[in-house]
Amino acid sequence: MADTNNPSTLAILGGKPTCDSPIPFMSTALNQNDIDAATAVLHSGMLRQASKCAELEERIADISDAENAFTCSNGTCALQLAYGSLLNPGDEVIVPAWTFLATASMIVAAGCIPIFCDVLPDTYQIDPADVEKRITPKTRAIACTHLYGCPVDINAIEQIAAKHNLTIIYDAAQAHLARYNDNGIGAFGDAVTYSFYATKNLGTGEGGMVTTNSDTTAKKISLLRSHGESGKYLHESIGFNYRMNDITAAIGCSRLDRLEQQNESRRKTAAQYNKILHNIDAIDAPSVTQGALPVWHLYTCKLDTALLTCTRDEFCDALKAEGVPTAVHYPRSLTRQPCFENFVQDHPPTCDWLADRVFCLPMHHDLSDEQIQAVSNALNKVVAAFAKPEIPTVSVPERVAAVEH
Ligand SMILES: Cc1ncc(COP(=O)(O)O)c(C=O)c1O
Repeated sequence: MADTNNPSTLAILGGKPTCDSPIPFMSTALNQNDIDAATAVLHSGMLRQASKCAELEERIADISDAENAFTCSNGTCALQLAYGSLLNPGDEVIVPAWTFLATASMIVAAGCIPIFCDVLPDTYQIDPADVEKRITPKTRAIACTHLYGCPVDINAIEQIAAKHNLTIIYDAAQAHLARYNDNGIGAFGDAVTYSFYATKNLGTGEGGMVTTNSDTTAKKISLLRSHGESGKYLHESIGFNYRMNDITAAIGCSRLDRLEQQNESRRKTAAQYNKILHNIDAIDAPSVTQGALPVWHLYTCKLDTALLTCTRDEFCDALKAEGVPTAVHYPRSLTRQPCFENFVQDHPPTCDWLADRVFCLPMHHDLSDEQIQAVSNALNKVVAAFAKPEIPTVSVPERVAAVEH
């Protein structure tokens, strides 16, 4: 029977939870300015893609060092617009098996072939050495994600792409305003895509964007986004309706006013978490790509299950009972997703390894020092409860004495 009065008894076993009320995992609330901005559009009656979309495009292009930006309905459409304007059916596209599904599924939707590659165990980002091994004469592009808000090793990817004449598409759905070597991430690659889904650093509910520095690609994206229409009722090519509306864009513009400051708060929280994890052997903090300025959409760490008597999921359940919610991004490698069955060549080992170990701590701009301290207390309590008993080490003279007896 668990001793419910003992402060070290886990809440999941009936002990007192570390937190009086659960710590919010994320913060998605709008403020009055956001609501006023959306209301102004409603009053104007201009609900379609109009001046607010243009403003959001201009501002994000400017901050991210991109030449052209196109708002669209969501991050999945953004990928479709980028792939549709840069790839041809049958192309092989190298993509990490450790990313959100759409980075790879939209390659298939474009009639192309995803070639799954591995990621680095410490940064979780695409592994340039593994990319190079998977290049064939049919390889046309590399599609990689600035995962969890941290840029990939852009220099390494650009060098490989230049050597083999490959296109690069960066999925920055989780990396709004991240930087690399003092440049906005829009400065790199052939296209960069974004999602403004409600939980993203810049959340508008649904929404997305593609940026590109090529005017030719920009023209193709513009046509694909809106029925291939190059003049009034003149349809030059087949396209979609993937336009954003001005209500969404107004919320985006309003939230963009405070995004830089909110990303800075996330960086402060990440630094505090790094310090806490430095003293916990069983949990590894994430590493950041050299030269990258991350925006910490998610703070993803790894559990060293060899040091504990529980699985990652049991660990997360115990943390939740203490009042610290977590999330698992992602519970399986993309090569383990049934929808990619026909495209799997092998299972990149680091992706499988991460799937059993990763979990994300609460991360948003609004976490207080007290809440971060509570996360620390809960982590230490749960790790202590699940720690494997230390195997007593016997010194050599004692061992010899034992044999002599
Ligand atoms: C890395 C990544 N790519 C693409 C997407 C798709 O974006 P959306 O949900 O806006 O379609 C997401 C959304 O979670 C994402 O995290």
